Amino acid sequence: MKKSILVLTTAAAMLTIVGCGSKDNAGGEKVTYAKTSAEVYTQSCYKCHGDKAQGMTEKKTPPMNDRQAGELELDLYDVKNEGTNQSSGTDHDKMAHNMKKLFEKGFDYDPKSMAMYIEKNFYINPHKKK
Ligand code: HEC
Repeated sequence: MKKSILVLTTAAAMLTIVGCGSKDNAGGEKVTYAKTSAEVYTQSCYKCHGDKAQGMTEKKTPPMNDRQAGELELDLYDVKNEGTNQSSGTDHDKMAHNMKKLFEKGFDYDPKSMAMYIEKNFYINPHKKK
């Protein structure tokens, strides 16, 4: 009897650990997001960054279609990190501030998949002639 209770509690404890999706991705574990990167982009980011990630002068946004996923991922990661952390080492104060609001609205995303989404759909290869 005692043993089965112990087994049950252990199982329950494990379920709790697995069940509550940690937002901290430092361990590289899978985090589940409410929206896909495509949804987040087409419902939110495009408003300031343009529907082709080309950047918008009136919103003072830089283009994001000029980099490939690997590089973009780092910038997305920076911006995301600054939105959740207090620290601000880069010049992305504005975006970090936006990000905080966007998180509250559920527009959270995985930097890697967002970078891949942007590259796949919007990247313009500067070496390719039109
Ligand atoms: C309310 C307008 C607004 C929205 C919405 C917005 N951004 Fe931004 N973003 C900005 C502005 C302004 C900058 C430039 C200033 C800065 O970097 O802080 C910027 C900068 C960035 C940068 C840095 C660009 C670079 O060249 O490194 C990234 C990455 C970025 N945004 C990603 C996103 C993503 C992803 C979303 C959607 C989740 C998003 N932004 C939604 C206004 C916005």
